[in-house]
Amino acid sequence: MSDAASIGDLARRARWRLPGFAFGFLDGGSGEEGGLRRNRDRLEAVVLAPKACGGVKPETTATLFGRDYRLPFGAAPVGMGNLLWPGADLMVARQAARLGFPVVASTVATTPLEEIAEAAGGNAWFQLYVSREERINRDLLARAWAAGIRELVVTVDVPVAGDRRRDVRNRFILPFRPGPRFVAQVATAPLWALETLRAGSPGFPNLARYVGEVDGKTLAGFISSQIKDDLAWDDIKALRDLWQGRMLVKGVMTAPDAKAALDVGADGVWVSNHGGRQLDAAPAAIDSLAAIRAALGNGAVVVMDGGIRSGEDVVRAGAVGADFVFCGRAFYYGAAAAGEAGAARAADLLAADLRRTLIQIGCPSWMALDDGWLWK
Ligand SMILES: Cc1cc2nc3c(=O)[nH]c(=O)nc-3n(C[C@H](O)[C@H](O)[C@H](O)COP(=O)(O)O)c2cc1C
Repeated sequence: MSDAASIGDLARRARWRLPGFAFGFLDGGSGEEGGLRRNRDRLEAVVLAPKACGGVKPETTATLFGRDYRLPFGAAPVGMGNLLWPGADLMVARQAARLGFPVVASTVATTPLEEIAEAAGGNAWFQLYVSREERINRDLLARAWAAGIRELVVTVDVPVAGDRRRDVRNRFILPFRPGPRFVAQVATAPLWALETLRAGSPGFPNLARYVGEVDGKTLAGFISSQIKDDLAWDDIKALRDLWQGRMLVKGVMTAPDAKAALDVGADGVWVSNHGGRQLDAAPAAIDSLAAIRAALGNGAVVVMDGGIRSGEDVVRAGAVGADFVFCGRAFYYGAAAAGEAGAARAADLLAADLRRTLIQIGCPSWMALDDGWLWK
């Protein structure tokens, strides 16, 4: 794995190892994928000021909600992760334990939140897709709490499923009916097929207890009937009152929404356009981050994701105003490219590049990073 020099290299290997529909699900965005491209283009447009004779040995610890993480980035929630490679969710969670960063277990993860929490060694958070049924929300939160999780992330940017055209073209739509195209794609990915056969097809264990065994055939109906498509700030407030730990609202892209989230008692805002998978015309996450940081000032906790593919990108986001940064695809490209070793490689590449970048700009620590390190 040591010859994979970047997250992009891992993505290229993942494309080669996965059947087309699985890679398309991981890699794709919504609509014509303008939001997906914009996340990258605008991040790359962030230019840092190099510093000669800086001589720093940077400290990468990030303190968030009273906890010290050894690295200022974490793994964003990813649903259907084990479809990308069997066992991928736990491979990613183990990197969180090994390197000391948070991993967020998704409501629609293919691994029970309890198992992710255990593998992450105290570094797991939980992401909630709010259900119409209060008993399900309550139960999920109680389970997360019992598993030792203290950070809750409530996702608010899926009032309707995104227009995922790659999935449509690959017939990877629910209810899933395997056809000739599926068989042809699987035939090009023998190792994936073998491993998936051995592991069994991925399900949705967090939700299974509420609907019986949820599989590809019943999930579409279940999710569309359960996901609260008329979510209001009052609902977020109700969750705030229910959850004793820290709570972030994920999928916020504008200053008024960021303020609304804080007004109902959120401890922080997670700026995200869902990795370009929801509103295609959404702004780039890095641009929203700048606008939201400017509107909220330095006191508020603002984290971000979207397009992060290197430690340098993490530093770019930090300089623009992020307290903490998350990666969705990066870790799963790694796991899909080479299993556990690939997930580890993704994490190591990000960590090494982060340190290298801080040295090159002469920044002594993640916590010291601010817009003073931007090229002006
Ligand atoms: C395959 C895949 C599945 C995802 N599933 C979820 C999910 O279950 N819940 C959620 O809040 N966000 C989900 N996201 C969005 C990520 O949490 C994150 O916002 C996004 O991936 C960040 O962009 P990046 O992939 O460019 O790093 C998913 C993203 C991908 C790529």
